[in-house]
Parts: sequence; C-alpha cells; structure tokens
Amino acid sequence: MATDPMPQFPPGFLWGVSTSAHQIEGAADERGPSVWDVFSAEPGRIKDGSTAAVACDHYHRYREDIALVAGLGVNAYRFSVSWPRAASPGGLGFYDRLVDELCAAGIRPVVTLYHWDLPADLDWLKRDTASRFAEHVGTVAARLGDRVGHWITLNEPAEHTLLGHALGVHAPGKQLLFDALPTAHHQLLAHGLAVSALRAAGAGQVGIANSHGPTWPASDDPADQEAAAFYDLLLNRLFAEPVLLGAYPQGLGDLMPGDPQADLETIGAPLDFYGVNYYAPTRVGAPQGAASEFGGVRVPDGLPFSLREIDGYPLTDFGWPVVPHGLTDLLTGFRRRYGDRLPPVIITENGCAYDGLDDQHRIAFHDGHLRALHRAIEAGVDVRGYFVWSLLDNFEWAEGYARRFGLVHVDFATQQRTPKASYTWLRETLRAQL
Ligand code: NOJ
Repeated sequence: MATDPMPQFPPGFLWGVSTSAHQIEGAADERGPSVWDVFSAEPGRIKDGSTAAVACDHYHRYREDIALVAGLGVNAYRFSVSWPRAASPGGLGFYDRLVDELCAAGIRPVVTLYHWDLPADLDWLKRDTASRFAEHVGTVAARLGDRVGHWITLNEPAEHTLLGHALGVHAPGKQLLFDALPTAHHQLLAHGLAVSALRAAGAGQVGIANSHGPTWPASDDPADQEAAAFYDLLLNRLFAEPVLLGAYPQGLGDLMPGDPQADLETIGAPLDFYGVNYYAPTRVGAPQGAASEFGGVRVPDGLPFSLREIDGYPLTDFGWPVVPHGLTDLLTGFRRRYGDRLPPVIITENGCAYDGLDDQHRIAFHDGHLRALHRAIEAGVDVRGYFVWSLLDNFEWAEGYARRFGLVHVDFATQQRTPKASYTWLRETLRAQL
C-alpha cells in the first residue's frame, strides 16, 4: 500500500457509505412481498439457502446504524427505499424517521428509488411498470423531498437485466437471454419518467447509478476483440447512451419494444450527476462452445462472448480482481467517449468482499481506488463523490450472507455490529479530507 499521504479531494466532495433496503432492512413481514422474497424462497436459488427476511434487522436498528455512519465522519449516506415497503401502510414513516435521523447527525441522505426489490405482482416485461414506478417516485419525493438533496432513480439496471432477466441467477429468475431486452427498455423508461416526476416535485439533484467497468479483450484476435466490444455494448453502453445521449447504441433500439424513439426523449432528460458503481474489469473472449463462469456469473453456451480469468491481479474473497487503475481508465474513457454530455460523476459504489475483522485487504482496496479516482480527477474528470459499498455486511443476493462487503462486521446470529479495521482507516483518512 502507498505510504505517501492521500491526495486532497475537491472541496464539497461527498464522502459516504452505501446500502440497499432489501440487503439490510429485514422486517419482511412489515411490508408487501418483492420478487426477491419469492425468488429466495425457491430451493437452490440462494447459495447458503438464506433469505433477507431478517438480514441486518436495520429496520429496527436504524438508530444504531446511523450512529455508526456518523462515527465514520462521512458527510453522506446512500440508502434505498423499498418500493413494497413504501406501498405498505406506515412504510414511508420509516424513511421519514431515517431521513430525520441522518439530518440530525449532519449527514446528507442520498436516496435510491429502486434497488431491485420490485413488488412481487409487477414485472419489467410490462411497459406499465414504468408508469407505476413514476407514481411511486412522486409519492416518495412528496414525503421526503424537503430534506433529500440527491436522488438516484435506478441502481444497476444492467445487472438487474442481465442477472435477473437474461441469465436468471437473480430475482425474478427469468432466463430470457436476448428476449430480456424489453426489460432494459422499460427500466430506462422508468428512469426517464422518474426524472420527470422528481423535477415536477421540485426535487434536488437527480441521477442514476449504473455499473461500469473496463472490458478487456482476451487477446488481439479479432474474434476476441469483437466479443469484448459486444460485451462492452451490453454492460457499458446500453444503459449509458440512452441516458446521456438520448440514443441507443449500434442498432439496439431496433430490438426494443414499442416506439423506443419516442421514449428516448424522456429517457435522455438531462441529469445533475451520473452515478458509477465500479468493482472490476471483465475479460471477455469469443464463445468457446461451453458455458463460462467468472466471479459468480455463469454465461451459458450460445451467447456471442465468454468470460475469462484475469491473471496478474490480487483477487477478493469473491474472486473479483482488484484493479484500481480500471477506475481511472473507465472514467477517463467515459470523458473521452461522452465529452460534455457526461454530467459530474459520483462513485455511488466501490467495494470488495473479504472476511475478518482485521481487513487489511479492504483497506488496501479503498486506498488504491481512491488514489486511482484522484488520478481521474487530475486528468479532467469532474468527480463529486465516493461511496463505499457497504456500511454493513449484508445479504449479498444469490450469494446469501457468505460475501462480506461491510466496513462493519455483522454477526447474523446476534445482530452484533463490530467495526472492522477498515472502518477506523476510513475515519482517519476522512479526517484529513473534511
Ligand atoms: C452492486 C449492487 O448494487 C449491490 O447491491 C451489491 O451488493 C454489490 N454490487 C456487490 O455485489
């Protein structure tokens, strides 16, 4: 790890930690069901057989958890509103109290309006889900808008489409392959309609949180290059370009339902910031005539690409390579690709899964990524914030509780919280920044 001091980030920079409702709240019996409740109840879906019915019991322990956020010395906290909870009697009252608690501690709430926990009776294959989402957003904004300065419409629609609707390893477990593309369009439309609803409610700053990472071709072979470009199209461009440029890349619009051209005006409404979730690059090659698997994602045979191992970098406990310069490359590449169409960037998630309380690997990960982020700023990218994923160990989707991303350890049998070494490291690092 570098020993020279962490460079100084710009004034007004947002420093925060991120969570999501389904992964931490628990109290599943105090809200309506989501697609994740249904999916997790099906045998074999979640690796350790668990569900998020209790998770970190944050719903009942939010005061203790916000005290932990405050103890870090961050100035922002990103959480998501559960749509099924918001739609249940008394549900919005919880977020009201949470926002009040944050404001009282001097922490700015950054609210994600959708982080994958779709009400169980809805379906992204249906266009109407986008309008239903916009209504939900209007209700939440009316209730919390007086205290919330930053709104994120959707979290990682790319993963939600790929893992949830194309490959079926996340809820709702659909294996539609390319027939999942309509769910991408409907989520993008939901984003656009949500932006309009937020603007109508006079909300503060509005953005989206998209997952991005460099796509590395397996070799110089044109077949590998082509496969990598295709993967880049799906992961990096399909959700960025409609939002930033108001256009689908490379003919993908022709595969979308309805009249996508008419919707793109709504989808491409200007944003105040662009949220980027960065974890790792992906190495991609031509199809190999067999399924390929990497970092918890299995790509079946028959798709025009295959996933490959990345050598030469340390791996997290999840098997994801640790590549800080990937963040610099990604952001400078975005700036080159989109120029002034790219609004100020906020890193809405960056993190790693490691076990143990003395988590020196996590410290090295964040130290390296913050320095890499600073290099992107020096290279001219306008970056306004950095959020660690995550505050607490939590329900890591299909992996259950086995992957620990928290700065704070959670003993899921007792709900005891114990700050890890990385928590103390972040607190000390931020002392020099804020
Ligand atoms: C991104 C997702 O937004 C979050 O829910 C997840 O836990 C992290 N990636 C880690 O996989």
